[in-house]
Amino acid sequence: MRSLFINIRELVQIRDSSVEKVSGSEMKELPKISNAWLFFENDKISDFGKMEDLSEIQVDQTIDLTGKIVLPSWCDSHTHLVYAGNREQEFVDRINGLTYEEIANRGGGILNSAKTLNETSEEELYEQSAARLEEVIKLGTGAIEIKSGYGLTKEGELKMLRVIKKLKNNFSLPVKATFLGAHALPSEYKDRKEEYLDMVITEILPVIAKENLAEYIDIFCEKGYFSVEDTNRLMKAGQKYGLQPKIHVNQFNAIGGVQAGVTHNAISVDHLEIMTPQDIKSLTGTPTMPVALPGCSLFLSIPYTPAREIMEAGLPLALATDFNPGSSPSGNMNLVVSLACIKMKMTPEEAINAATINAAYAMGLSKTHGSISKGKKANFIVTKNIPSYAYLPYAFGTNAIEDVYINGKSVN
Ligand code: NIG
Ligand code: FE
Repeated sequence: MRSLFINIRELVQIRDSSVEKVSGSEMKELPKISNAWLFFENDKISDFGKMEDLSEIQVDQTIDLTGKIVLPSWCDSHTHLVYAGNREQEFVDRINGLTYEEIANRGGGILNSAKTLNETSEEELYEQSAARLEEVIKLGTGAIEIKSGYGLTKEGELKMLRVIKKLKNNFSLPVKATFLGAHALPSEYKDRKEEYLDMVITEILPVIAKENLAEYIDIFCEKGYFSVEDTNRLMKAGQKYGLQPKIHVNQFNAIGGVQAGVTHNAISVDHLEIMTPQDIKSLTGTPTMPVALPGCSLFLSIPYTPAREIMEAGLPLALATDFNPGSSPSGNMNLVVSLACIKMKMTPEEAINAATINAAYAMGLSKTHGSISKGKKANFIVTKNIPSYAYLPYAFGTNAIEDVYINGKSVN
């Protein structure tokens, strides 16, 4: 199928396909063509340019996008989209004064989700997760990472990873799987953290490798959860099985998780609400992508990742939803981009770079996704009639998306 979009008001995030990420002041630039055309064949972008330079192309369909904007679909590099049930009662408890920490200490939080997940069948878990994935695709997400971490038993973790694999097989967008067995210590292992990690390493990791169930390995490196020593141990074990680190660090405390991530060549370090100058320094000159999750900051009323300081240090930054039932029950990347502008003082250019090319990098997809580049996948967002790309973060809460294309096909 040969398709041509014409009269595009703004074709945004056009890049040479060699660009894998943008850092520091490069993030201020969002290359675009006004009054553009875009030609794609089957699932790949073939060419694009200015309307005035359009010569005759043989196509099967021509779509007039007068007044509309085209940009690469969002890449969501950090989600926990596979979960069972919800935690709206904890949300109400927090409104009534309990903290996230107090709820977790009472056996709520991650352990609450783990209990529900272990009581839910694989089929039911798949149905709930597939419905969420369908929803976020309609909101413009065209590539996604999904973590385990609500099983916390061998069976539960493998069930989650098999559901992720099934989503990967049944949906056309790329789905990257991350093993987060060390998300919290299950109550059966209270005061026996070493034994839990032994179980994760000796009983779960070999099955993941054998069945090819994950590409990345994660840990919640945080006071009261897992230490830097635990992180070092688990990342080393994961690497033996070919799993690259991609870790939760600095959500509530800076305990050295960023440095541990850098040491183990993590593809990304995520959360970063609490950052020391030393944390920022340790990321300089490394291939590790810092990832901010402003939906979590909004929902838990915790600080936002210091995006300006990170970018002013010359670092790249990516944005993701953290879609999960406890700290960010939304997989809406449009809202994340708005929050980045409103609360983190990122410009629309910086936020869109962070949610496309840099987010693709944070899950190893920037050779095929994250920009409008010749040869990359034909994954786009087509907006409604809007004045400019800055309108997207500006009109927060408005759905400005008319259609989403995955591999050259409209999802409508
Ligand atoms: O990324 N911080 C750790 N994990 C999740 C939240 C887990 C939960 O509350 O269910 C996060 O915020
Ligand atoms: Fe998370």
